[in-house]
Amino acid sequence: MRILVTGGAGFIGSNLAADAIRKGYSVRILDDFSTGSRDNLAGLDVELIEGSILDSSCRTVALSGNVDSVVHLAALGSVPRSIADPLASHAANATGTLEMLIAATEAKVKHFVYSSSSSVYGMNPKLPKHEREWIRPMSPYAAAKLAAEQYVLAAQQSYGLSTLALRFFNVYGPRQSARHTYAAVVPTFIDAMLSGRPVYINGDGATSRDFTFVGSVVRVLLEAVERGVTHAEPVNLAFGTRTTINELTGTLMELTNTAPAVVHREPRPGDVRHSQAANASLRDLFPGVTPVPLTEGLRATVDWYKRTEFGSA
Ligand SMILES: NC(=O)c1ccc[n+]([C@@H]2O[C@H](COP(=O)([O-])OP(=O)(O)OC[C@H]3O[C@@H](n4cnc5c(N)ncnc54)[C@H](O)[C@@H]3O)[C@@H](O)[C@H]2O)c1
Repeated sequence: MRILVTGGAGFIGSNLAADAIRKGYSVRILDDFSTGSRDNLAGLDVELIEGSILDSSCRTVALSGNVDSVVHLAALGSVPRSIADPLASHAANATGTLEMLIAATEAKVKHFVYSSSSSVYGMNPKLPKHEREWIRPMSPYAAAKLAAEQYVLAAQQSYGLSTLALRFFNVYGPRQSARHTYAAVVPTFIDAMLSGRPVYINGDGATSRDFTFVGSVVRVLLEAVERGVTHAEPVNLAFGTRTTINELTGTLMELTNTAPAVVHREPRPGDVRHSQAANASLRDLFPGVTPVPLTEGLRATVDWYKRTEFGSA
């Protein structure tokens, strides 16, 4: 089994690559290292194609030979980044996905898995977020992920491609980088706590998220690839939990055994207030997958940051 992982040098992609190799897969990665890192691939026996999904020659090389399944993770993440540079976000996240779909079809790849985002629910306040609820993106990032997700689903009818569009919620775990402008909340807070710096919370901290350990996400991705899982509608990939940023901060303080100054600042534009997945579709399609509980996943993540000197090694 050969899989192509776009964005494989990133957080989720490198965790997927590591587990896929352990299962005996042949793993090819296409990544331009715009946000990914070579450290993430250290010691992994992958075939690396360095370049962009927006470059047709890179796509051709990446899809040459027999690729059984594409797991398309390459994207420019982060809501604030997309507000600052919406065209770059659209190019990588929407146009890049359409280009990958066309290239995969031409290369006669049979199966294509896409990483959409819970951010597509946007303005809809209803909890939990069901895949058939109305959606209203609040940022260029969310709009581009939604466009891409719909292209991925339309390819089933248009090109006969077996596709699966999974809506990831807030994924966290080892290999998620901390020290950059657009870093996610879990690595940012762990890094601040372990470095003795204050923790900055955007808003009152009552904002909530359905945090998902990367190991659970990888397990679903691998099962999707193994069984060629396809579905006509988008599928939430989270387990229906809801944790506020204040609760997350408290748990991380316990796990790191620290008591940092906690500073509240203005909420960020484009950020969704609450997020929690309805997960009936996920359970139907992947009945055997059980989530890693939050405290267990956070403990593994904190341990990894300590082992790698706060994720920088
Ligand atoms: N992490 C989350 O909580 C989360 C939530 C929802 C959706 N997602 C989606 O999951 C996917 C993976 O996210 P992640 O957290 O691992 O992000 P990441 O930034 O760690 O990984 C993305 C990878 O894509 C690469 N990339 C970006 N643009 C590229 C291009 N034009 N060509 C080739 N490679 C390119 C980057 O270098 C990086 O290695 C993304 O599509 C993201 O939108 C993630």
